[in-house]
Amino acid sequence: MSHLKHLRVESDGDLAVVTVDRQDKLNALNAEVVRELGLVLEGFREDDQVRGVILTGAGEKAFVAGADIGELAGMDPLTSVEVSRQGQDVFMAIERFPKPVLAAVGGYALGGGCELALACHLRLASDNARLGLPEVGLGLLPGFGGTVRLARLVGLGRAVELTLTGEMITADQALESGLVSGVVPRAQLMPKAKELLRKVTKNGPVAVRLALESIYRALDGSTNEALDHESTLFGLLASTADMKEGTEAFLEKRKPEFKGC
Ligand code: COA
Repeated sequence: MSHLKHLRVESDGDLAVVTVDRQDKLNALNAEVVRELGLVLEGFREDDQVRGVILTGAGEKAFVAGADIGELAGMDPLTSVEVSRQGQDVFMAIERFPKPVLAAVGGYALGGGCELALACHLRLASDNARLGLPEVGLGLLPGFGGTVRLARLVGLGRAVELTLTGEMITADQALESGLVSGVVPRAQLMPKAKELLRKVTKNGPVAVRLALESIYRALDGSTNEALDHESTLFGLLASTADMKEGTEAFLEKRKPEFKGC
């Protein structure tokens, strides 16, 4: 991954850690960062060594302080639509990624940074995190999925309030709203993020993958379609060696050894 300009990629066992590293701009998302995020993620898709992904920001101060305002400032309408679509596509690829993706939010997660966290499956914040969608204060709206995903997590009323005021909230307020699932001291963010994600990756990878698929597919269609799909995936899992192993291990009172097939 030496071709990457703004991302650092490391691995720790079965986890990949992707760090947005543009510290002089508080890790703001320019077009290159968005493109690189998409590329890196695609690389993990078929990589059996990677069972979960952590996205984070470099430095103590910011996860990602938003889309790059310098880039946005000079854009014409058609380019703006294109930029929004490119961000949405990459963030959708994160939301629908077949392996769990966790946002380790240390510091500011504003605008596109908050939207990036929203697209992840899990969110853990440090105590210095500040989250918000300040776009309306710039005469913009959240264009990387924030107007759609925030309400799903925190409810319509709170989402409308946060979007229209553009105000930042603290990590504890984010926890209270359901925007993050935990708050930890800054120094503990990465160890705790790995601990949380490993609670997922110790489970059967195919089961995790299909559970994610069922949950997110349910957002798109009717309840009946979603339930049908759930049953199909449930049936599909019955054909896996992992399902056999998981149920047998329980009955034999031992830990399962999942193979991912
Ligand atoms: N896009 C481009 N540059 C950004 C940025 C963004 N979203 N967020 C921060 N930066 C840059 C600043 O311009 C500054 O660059 P400079 O040193 O070349 O002037 C650098 O990052 C440090 O930011 P600074 O504002 O000096 O830090 P601060 O501690 O005073 O304030 C924030 C931190 C996050 C409150 C403030 O940077 C901010 O409000 N950023 C924009 C957040 C936003 O509106 N995001 C949504 C964008 S759609």
